[in-house]
Amino acid sequence: MGLKQATLHQLKVFEVTARHGSFTRAAEELFLTQPTVSIQMKQLTRVVGMPLFEQVGKRLYLTEAGKELLATCQDIFERLERFEMAIANLKGLKQGHLRLCVITTAKYVIPRLLGPFCQRYPGIDVALTVTNHEQVVERIRGNMDDLYIPSYPPDNVDVECHRFLDNPLVVVAPSHHRLSGRTKIPIQELAGEPFIMREQGSGTRQAVEKLFAEHGVSINIRLELGSNESIKQAIAGGLGISVLSHHCLALDRESSQLTILDVEHFPIQRHWHLVYPAGKQLSVVAQAFFDYVRTEGREMIESSLTYPAAPAKELNPV
Ligand code: PGA
Repeated sequence: MGLKQATLHQLKVFEVTARHGSFTRAAEELFLTQPTVSIQMKQLTRVVGMPLFEQVGKRLYLTEAGKELLATCQDIFERLERFEMAIANLKGLKQGHLRLCVITTAKYVIPRLLGPFCQRYPGIDVALTVTNHEQVVERIRGNMDDLYIPSYPPDNVDVECHRFLDNPLVVVAPSHHRLSGRTKIPIQELAGEPFIMREQGSGTRQAVEKLFAEHGVSINIRLELGSNESIKQAIAGGLGISVLSHHCLALDRESSQLTILDVEHFPIQRHWHLVYPAGKQLSVVAQAFFDYVRTEGREMIESSLTYPAAPAKELNPV
C-alpha cells in the first residue's frame, strides 16, 4: 500500500493531531470523537508503513516519518487552497476571457457597454469580432465565440436566442436631398435613386432587397460598400442614398450632414438578439455579460446615445 491509499480526510486529521500533539484536542477541533481520530491515525500509520507519532507522557510527538508527512500535508493543503481561490476568483469574475461576435450595427453600442462591464471586472479580457450577418452565422456554426449578436436568429442552426433591443433600418440621404422634409414618401419614388448598397452576405442588404422586391421597386445600385461608416461618408459626399440601421447614426460629424427620409414601409423593424448555440454551457464570464446586457446594458444604450430623430413610427425598445 502507498500513501495514495490515504484519504484527504485522514491527512486532515493527521495535520490537526500533529498541530495539537493530542488525539483529544484534534477530535474537539474536528468535531469528531477521540476514538474516531485514533482509528483514522492507526489506518494512516498502516498505509505509511511506519509509526507517525510517539507518545511521551500525555503528549504525542512526531517521528521522522511523521515530520515528513506533515510537510507533505502542508504542501497539499496549500495547493488545494490556491486552487480553491482560483475557482473563487473565476466565480467572482475576477479573471477570465469573453469572446464576442457582433454584427456591424451592434459595434456602435457594444463597446460602450463593455466599458462599465470591464471596469467592474478588471481581470476580464475581451475579444470583440465585428462582422456581417453571414459571417456571424458561420462563427456560430463553428462555435468560435462565447456570445453572438445578430439582428435575427440564424436559419438552420439550433440556438438559444434572446431579443434585447430594436435595430430599425431607415432610409438615409444627404440633408439637402430633394425628398428631405417630405412625409410618407411612396417607396416607388426611390426607384432610380442612386443607391449605396452593403456587400453580399450583409443582413441589411438582404432586408432591403426583400422589401424593395415585395413592392416591385428596382434598386439602382451605384456603389457597393462593405462598411456602414463608408456608406455614411459616401452619402454625405452626395453619392446616393442608402438604408442603414438607425444606430449607425449616433450623432457625429457626418450624421449632421445626413437626414432620415420618411419613406413608406420604413423603418424596417429588426431587433438585436443575444445568441449562443443550443446546449452550450456559458462560462461564468459569458453568463455575467449576458445578464448585464439584458438588464443594465439595455437601459444604458437607451439613455446614452443620441440620434437624429426618425420621422416614422416611434422607436420603442422591445
Ligand atoms: P449586416 O447586419 O452588417 O450583416 O448588414 C447589420 C444588422 O443586421 O443590423
